[in-house]
Amino acid sequence: MKILVTAGPTREPIDPVRFISNRSSGKMGYAVARAAARRGHAVILLSGPVALAPPVGVKLARVVTAREMLAAVRRHVRWCGALVMTAAVSDWRPQVVRRQKLKKSRKPLLLRLAPTTDILLAIRPWKGRRIFVGFAAETRHLRWEAARKLAAKGLDLIVANDVSRRDAGFESDNNRVTLMAKNGYIRDLPLMPKAKVAERIIRWIETCAARKSK
Ligand code: CTP
Repeated sequence: MKILVTAGPTREPIDPVRFISNRSSGKMGYAVARAAARRGHAVILLSGPVALAPPVGVKLARVVTAREMLAAVRRHVRWCGALVMTAAVSDWRPQVVRRQKLKKSRKPLLLRLAPTTDILLAIRPWKGRRIFVGFAAETRHLRWEAARKLAAKGLDLIVANDVSRRDAGFESDNNRVTLMAKNGYIRDLPLMPKAKVAERIIRWIETCAARKSK
């Protein structure tokens, strides 16, 4: 299969030296790309700024902002049979990007943030028979929020991730997730290395693709 994976955070510039971003390390997305390549799939990995080596056998394209991630996903989505949106795309960007460095001042600084485009919603028209997998990073009401996103974004599978846990989630090598599929399948996975979580996701995609082709 051809699998498109997005990973890492995006960075939204404030001025030439500052940005807003989030705690995503990219480890989960890189693990998904690596697991897919190991199982013989063709993989394109669209990555925000992370400190990770590109997985072997994966075609890597780097992006920085949410806008660049959207453009890259739009460019590649028609190529793929499955998309795994692991990236923690910034939901806001500074409305004005200063061309010169903001100088320090004792007054509070007000930053106006404009919402970014939701990539999964924007590419929904291209879904067709493609398999779309999303992630839900939540600090509370995990299953409820994930179910809402699964439906709202028209996904086949959502990987619900409790990011308030200290032993899993952001920056960690381990993750504890719940897989929730469109057809009602729900599976709580125990705490395990992200590499193992990635393998479960790829195997789920393979099973789903085999069913769809019947
Ligand atoms: N996502 C996206 N475009 C965005 C933000 C998120 O496509 N601008 C994708 C993520 O890659 C993920 C899914 O949507 O697969 C859910 O992301 P998450 O951050 O959990 O939720 P949001 O949709 O941003 O909603 P909220 O911030 O309210 O939790």
